[in-house]
Amino acid sequence: MRQARDVIREECEVLKMTDKQIKEIMCRLHNDLKKGLSRADHDKATVKCWITYIQDLPNGKERGKFLALDLGGTNFRVLIINLGENHFDMQSKIYAIPKHIMTGTGIALFDHIAECLANFMKEHGVYEERLALGFTFSFPLKQLGLTKGVLQRWTKGFSCSGVVGEDVVQGLKDAIARRGDVQIDICAILNDTTGTLMSCAWKNHNCKIGLIVGTGSNACYVEKTANCELFDGEPEKEELLINTEWGAFGDDGSLDFVRTEFDREVDVTSINPGKQIQEKMISGMYLGELVRLALVKFTRMGLLFGGQGSDLLFEGGSFYTKYVSEIESDKPGDFTSCMEVLEELGLSHASDADMAAVRYVCECVSRRAAHLVSAGIATLLNKMNEPRVTVGIDGSVYRFHPHFHTLMCEKIAQLVRPGLQFDLMLSEDGSGRGAALVAAVACREAEQGS
Ligand code: GLC
Repeated sequence: MRQARDVIREECEVLKMTDKQIKEIMCRLHNDLKKGLSRADHDKATVKCWITYIQDLPNGKERGKFLALDLGGTNFRVLIINLGENHFDMQSKIYAIPKHIMTGTGIALFDHIAECLANFMKEHGVYEERLALGFTFSFPLKQLGLTKGVLQRWTKGFSCSGVVGEDVVQGLKDAIARRGDVQIDICAILNDTTGTLMSCAWKNHNCKIGLIVGTGSNACYVEKTANCELFDGEPEKEELLINTEWGAFGDDGSLDFVRTEFDREVDVTSINPGKQIQEKMISGMYLGELVRLALVKFTRMGLLFGGQGSDLLFEGGSFYTKYVSEIESDKPGDFTSCMEVLEELGLSHASDADMAAVRYVCECVSRRAAHLVSAGIATLLNKMNEPRVTVGIDGSVYRFHPHFHTLMCEKIAQLVRPGLQFDLMLSEDGSGRGAALVAAVACREAEQGS
């Protein structure tokens, strides 16, 4: 009789992508990026390639005191940042966004943000000052300028009513005006990928891609203005930042040839079925659930835990993505973290063989995620065709998974056109500092222009 271990390995084969499949994914993504940029195809494109209206990267000379807001991951943060010569200091506070606000009305969301902002200004002694603010809003935005952006769809578990189709900057301005107590100039709205890129570019001028592998997954990159057919701003600047919103790659079925029953299950039970298909194979909001679904299947097949699951194992969302990072942080053959996780899930009856299998499932899921991200980055690198590009990266999965960085380095090196070089750089608080930098660059430009 075949051993449970072998059957599980066989079952997990669907989570592996062959080189040929990865090449095909790159080809499809490249076509989708071109569609997103093109005037004729943009409306039907799945990868929208939104124009950010950011054309000036920081030059390291930005100075001053700025506020920043960071909304779009698991946390919402307010920051105050002082940019000085070769250094910056930053204070921030994390505020919860309760579930009822995430899924309530837009007005309640913006009122909550404005209230946190006002409290933060009081606590930091700047309540009376008039400050510039950069707003990192990490959802698909159709930008109409640096301070105007219309929400296209919610992602990552948000569903506030009355915001899709509306200008988000106006929503926040109105909420601040309703309070009437603080004076804030919103200088820029940006995506977290953009913030990450800007933050890295402050020190590293080769940084031309910003990547997030966190609650969601997305990338932005520097494109030639001439290729951005929908751009209606100042054409004299040669380059432009594009927010690809590649999380939506696959929404038209183009990833179905590599999707598994686990991916389909994650999708149908999500708040946005049929949407953000690639994101659901990569990002922190979903990786743990993918692992859980595989473990449930193998338990029901009698291959794991002696066929005996637990209430928590069978409960959606109970296997956090941080567990995947913890389990894979154990040295090979050591199951300390794995055992802790399984105990938390009420599976203390797991044997060593079970724990090895759980780890294997985690590895397959995270490896596939790293390979998909790598396929995306290699597609961008090949498209940009520049001799050396630094990729600025942030997000909990990249930051905390013990092997994600190495897996990406290996895979990208294999997929990128010979001769092109790249570096993967962890961003230091991309969203926060990046927002302040975008605001600062906007002020710099405004001053130069006046
Ligand atoms: C989702 C959002 C995108 C963001 C990404 C990472 O994909 O739609 O705007 O950049 O998550 O947070």
